[in-house]
Amino acid sequence: MCGIFGYVNYLVEKSREDILNTMLDGMQRLEYRGYDSAGIAVDGDGYNEVVLFKEVGKVAALRKLVNSSDIDKNKRFVSHVAIAHTRWATHGQPSRLNAHPHRSDPNNEFVVVHNGIITNYRELKALLVSKGFVFETETDTECIAKLCKYVYDLNKHRDLDFTELAKLILVELQGAYGLLLKSVHYPNEVIGTRKGSPLLIGVKTEKKLKVDFVDVEFPDFAEITVDAGDASANGMLGVPMGGSDLRRSQSRAFVSDDGVPMQAEFFLASDPSAVVEHTKKVLYLEDDDIAHIYDGELHIHRVRRDEGLPSIRSIQTLEMELNEIMKGNFDHFMQKEIFEQPESVVNTMRGRIDFEKKTVTLGGLSAYLNTIRRCRRIIMIACGTSYHSCMATRAIFEELTEIPIAVELASDFLDRKSPVFRDDTCIFVSQSGETADTMLALQYCIERGALTVGIVNSVGSSISRQTNCGVHINAGPEIGVASTKAYTSQYVALTMMALSLSDDRISMRPRRHAIIDGLAKISKQIDEVLKLNDKIKEMAETDLINQKSLLLLGRGYQHATALEGALKIKEISYMHSEGVLAGELKHGVLALVDEDLPIIVLATHDSLFPKVMSSVEQVIARSGNPILICNEDEESLGKFKKTYRTLEVPATVDCLQGLLNVIPLQLMSYWLAVKKGFDVDFPRNLAKAVTVE
Ligand code: F6R
Repeated sequence: MCGIFGYVNYLVEKSREDILNTMLDGMQRLEYRGYDSAGIAVDGDGYNEVVLFKEVGKVAALRKLVNSSDIDKNKRFVSHVAIAHTRWATHGQPSRLNAHPHRSDPNNEFVVVHNGIITNYRELKALLVSKGFVFETETDTECIAKLCKYVYDLNKHRDLDFTELAKLILVELQGAYGLLLKSVHYPNEVIGTRKGSPLLIGVKTEKKLKVDFVDVEFPDFAEITVDAGDASANGMLGVPMGGSDLRRSQSRAFVSDDGVPMQAEFFLASDPSAVVEHTKKVLYLEDDDIAHIYDGELHIHRVRRDEGLPSIRSIQTLEMELNEIMKGNFDHFMQKEIFEQPESVVNTMRGRIDFEKKTVTLGGLSAYLNTIRRCRRIIMIACGTSYHSCMATRAIFEELTEIPIAVELASDFLDRKSPVFRDDTCIFVSQSGETADTMLALQYCIERGALTVGIVNSVGSSISRQTNCGVHINAGPEIGVASTKAYTSQYVALTMMALSLSDDRISMRPRRHAIIDGLAKISKQIDEVLKLNDKIKEMAETDLINQKSLLLLGRGYQHATALEGALKIKEISYMHSEGVLAGELKHGVLALVDEDLPIIVLATHDSLFPKVMSSVEQVIARSGNPILICNEDEESLGKFKKTYRTLEVPATVDCLQGLLNVIPLQLMSYWLAVKKGFDVDFPRNLAKAVTVE
């Protein structure tokens, strides 16, 4: 998965330096999606000439390269198209050569940036090689640029417009893509299209717009008519069946209301964080949409004719604020996001829980609550940290709803082709709403007729749009690759869903009320736990930093906390860590225990506390040195607290305790990574939204 960014200025004069800076800043915002290499394509000095800048590593390295280049930065462009990319390598090593944009030929006739995977690239490459194309990289993307040139050259006599050409290319591509195309043959035009990978377009203009023959003010501007006309999709690599089935553009959008050419800037991006500083007016493309921007207008076409898909694309107003995607006074996004949790959990509950009346109202689910209550089973499906939030809330779901609950890792669920039925409810939990494994599992469940529910952070993301209903967790943008505030907000959102589903059960009322009271206090309690920051920092620096490995033990509600803590530690501090169900200790893991191995035990007070303490005894009997995460007022731990290290957290309702217990582990992973000198927000080999299988 990668970040793609495009910038179009039409009749808004900019220097090349302005354009490059806009590109570099946009890429920097998307960098968390991939930071193996970065690249930009802009117009050169000569007529219809395209110049590429590419560098290995983060955008800062590319910025250096751009700054040191002797290209004329003062050259001015009244209209211009630039495209850029930050890469998370899937095909081909991170290298300058493999960095995007990729090109069709040494003259850069067509250049492309791509997020996703072209699964039939080998076949396309073989065909293009047989036609004389010489490939320079190991990427799947290069075949798109070369295919553009091949199809363009084949159809030269037909004077294809850029959309028509794009349609001919896209019907040949299999796999997933969000991509931008730029060409010397279509100066100042850009194509943006998606299938399975996100792409949105922000628009900035001062003018009133005429849309599909209806005059509207820009802020109310809401619709775009889509051309549902088909292009020649003959599957024969751009050898069309005849000119007549290629129709000229019928779509209209962002057209000025007085016939005078409209000054406009367009920003195309994988996610809104790259756009929000320029404009809040955005349009999310659907799969198979082709956005064609030229002459200050945005036209949307479809790759092929669809029955049933709405022909309206709404302009949405981003609610995100620029400061939400800035680090502020924090050193890292992850640190900021850890410390935002007292607020982010409140935002998840805001307007949804009435703490006085003890009611929970989830507007996005209300029409479906009865269907869910009657379902045969609930399957929660997710990956990574989001999966852990499902693990953390499974027991309270089971207890409150008495519906059988399965929790599935999306990839494994698909590998097993697990049976799904029409009377199942499938809950998809995802921060990004774009994770490929989770998306594929969603498609699988949709095909089998199950009711689908999204628990998603990113508004407008694929999962939030494709599920029948759902809850936005409203944690705000999460930029740090290691998920923190999204986890606690998912946890709260899932708990609220269980509360909402059970609000017709009188027998559950006391339990529900206790949980709602617990949620009322949770923000303040998270604040309390964050005060452990200095102690944890010191513990990381003095006790843990030189260890090779670390175990985390928990059971019941705290098993998920152990798994999540271990994931956090391994992904950013690169220390091997393992979350173990405490009950399983004696079945094998105990063999690892010695006087050196640090063992963090989640020993807060719940019904399983005595059993957890017997695991602690087993560890101690093997000369182990546990670190206990326990409650402040846990008297029975008096003697332990004197001998062993503890991190003491406030007590809450058992099913919410994981919201507090995970915070010290997030901080531990953070400080371990900082003290080891690792790049906290950009851990090696990882990226934020994994949009490949
Ligand atoms: C870990 C982490 C990942 C994600 C996983 C799913 O800190 O961030 O494990 O949780 O890739 O991503 P989403 O939630 O976007 O579907």
